[in-house]
Amino acid sequence: MGVSDGWRLNHPWAAVYSFGINRPQLAKPAARLAFGTDIGLLYDATAAIGQLPAGSSVLDVPCGSGVALRGIRPGQGLRYAAADIAPAMLDRTRHTADRLGVADQVLTVEADAGRMPFADGQFDLCVSFTGLHCFPDPYAAVTEIARALRPGGTLRVSWMRTDAGPQYRPHLAIGRLSGLLGPSATTDEVRGWLAATGFVDIDIVTSGALAYTSATRV
Ligand SMILES: C[S@@+](CC[C@H](N)C(=O)[O-])C[C@H]1O[C@@H](n2cnc3c(N)ncnc32)[C@H](O)[C@@H]1O
Repeated sequence: MGVSDGWRLNHPWAAVYSFGINRPQLAKPAARLAFGTDIGLLYDATAAIGQLPAGSSVLDVPCGSGVALRGIRPGQGLRYAAADIAPAMLDRTRHTADRLGVADQVLTVEADAGRMPFADGQFDLCVSFTGLHCFPDPYAAVTEIARALRPGGTLRVSWMRTDAGPQYRPHLAIGRLSGLLGPSATTDEVRGWLAATGFVDIDIVTSGALAYTSATRV
């Protein structure tokens, strides 16, 4: 079984993670305790979605249970593609979209982040939250995201980095043994990947085991 198969087949952790991430009051102390990170930075990053004008297109990959959908305003007029490899996660995203009253703007797409069925330059914004460390080939995902963003489009990405210190090595090792984590990457590696795939204005904030990044596609 490959790294993404555990997710695709709805590993029990997927339900636990989804339950927690959709409850900031629970996720914030849990993420602080387990990963030393301010996961509020992820919730804050979803605000970029709500600032887009009507007609804008957004790619959310991997969407998971739809945590980023909280950034969409009802009636905003977005074309929002929520992509994930796991059918069960896409069900959760549809449920979240209904709950938030934004289902008319959200299209769920079953896709591998390393090989996505989207046209070149199709999106104005891509959000990719806590995903890179779950992919077998995170560089392929960055390349695909870069391809799917239009020139001037923006990216918000967060991931569990491999250069956060020895205290987080057990987390990475357990995640890999469980079949849920891939190789991930250091902060410098992701910075280099973004630069190599045509991003500028790369801003990376590290907070505990995670990094929170924004960048613009040239
Ligand atoms: C930790 S969750 C993050 C989901 C969401 N962005 C969030 O922050 O809650 C990781 C997600 O990556 C998805 N995933 C794993 N491998 C994937 C792949 N190769 N392509 C697309 N999605 C994948 C999983 O199904 C899961 O929904």
